[in-house]
Amino acid sequence: MKRIGVVTAGGDAPGMNAAIRSIVRSAIYHDLEVVGFEKGYAGLIEGRSRTMGPRSVSGIINLGGTILKTIRSEEIKSPEGIAKAAENLKDKGVDGLVTIGGDGTFRGASEIQAVSGIPVIGVPATIDNDVSGTDTTIGFDTAVNTALSAIDKIRDTAFSHERIFVVEVMGRKRGFLALEVGLAGGAELILVPEMESDMNKICEKLRNARKEGKTSEIIVMAEGAGDSRKVVDYIAANTGYQARLTVLGYVQRGGIPTAYSRTLACEFGHHAVKLLLDGASRRMVGVSGGKIISVNLDYSWKERKELDLERYRLAEILSS
Ligand code: F6P
Repeated sequence: MKRIGVVTAGGDAPGMNAAIRSIVRSAIYHDLEVVGFEKGYAGLIEGRSRTMGPRSVSGIINLGGTILKTIRSEEIKSPEGIAKAAENLKDKGVDGLVTIGGDGTFRGASEIQAVSGIPVIGVPATIDNDVSGTDTTIGFDTAVNTALSAIDKIRDTAFSHERIFVVEVMGRKRGFLALEVGLAGGAELILVPEMESDMNKICEKLRNARKEGKTSEIIVMAEGAGDSRKVVDYIAANTGYQARLTVLGYVQRGGIPTAYSRTLACEFGHHAVKLLLDGASRRMVGVSGGKIISVNLDYSWKERKELDLERYRLAEILSS
């Protein structure tokens, strides 16, 4: 193996840059050349690339986003797009590819590998943490902490005005981010797509909480759990308490990566390069019980990752 490619695809996540740095510097340490593809799979399809050296990744370990940029490419979902990407990889003399992103990225990576025959390794990076085969993903810890610091601030107003706040967090169709933020933020209720929410029971719980002396409540709601505006309006109409909505949105995707997001990126990137050097392909790096591992790339997007329901129950117990 002489030259590897690196690409970031799908939604950006804090720590992607630390992963790019790790891949570039680990590769160069092992005498490999590195080509960075720009703007996600669109760059692969258009052959838009740059040679990367140790200095091209200087000063980025602490930056959110991705210096390679990213796009949600529709073209990569078509056989023509895949064929073009495969052709460009060969034209650039790339004989190993590392793709950084989430489940959609790995689905594309799997097809690119099948058509090109070039070994591919996935590095999981998404604030949603909805990738099977790894306990967590690059960027998730940062997003949790960003949402948490917002909730800590919202609590001041909730307390002072004796209000109920519904705080909508991201997570696409899954509740990993909401559960983690809810548990860490001491939320009174956590609404996730994985658990059915009965609005009448929610209102009853809120009324009981007030009878038992609570004066304000935080409800963390995953964006995939329904219409947060309707939830707030229903609560206000059926409890008589003041209720407000805050949608955290894209602030959760940006910002300085936490130490954990960075160190995970350092380890994932290094391990991805080592896997390519060992002749592996169609693998995704991950972490399990604190250890860096790798799993079949297809497992990462074909299998549904389960939400930890015991953790959900714990949040419920502690919210009394
Ligand atoms: O996958 C990351 C994520 O931020 C999700 O939480 C969210 O649903 C989605 O991306 C938003 O996508 P886009 O950036 O295309 O608006």
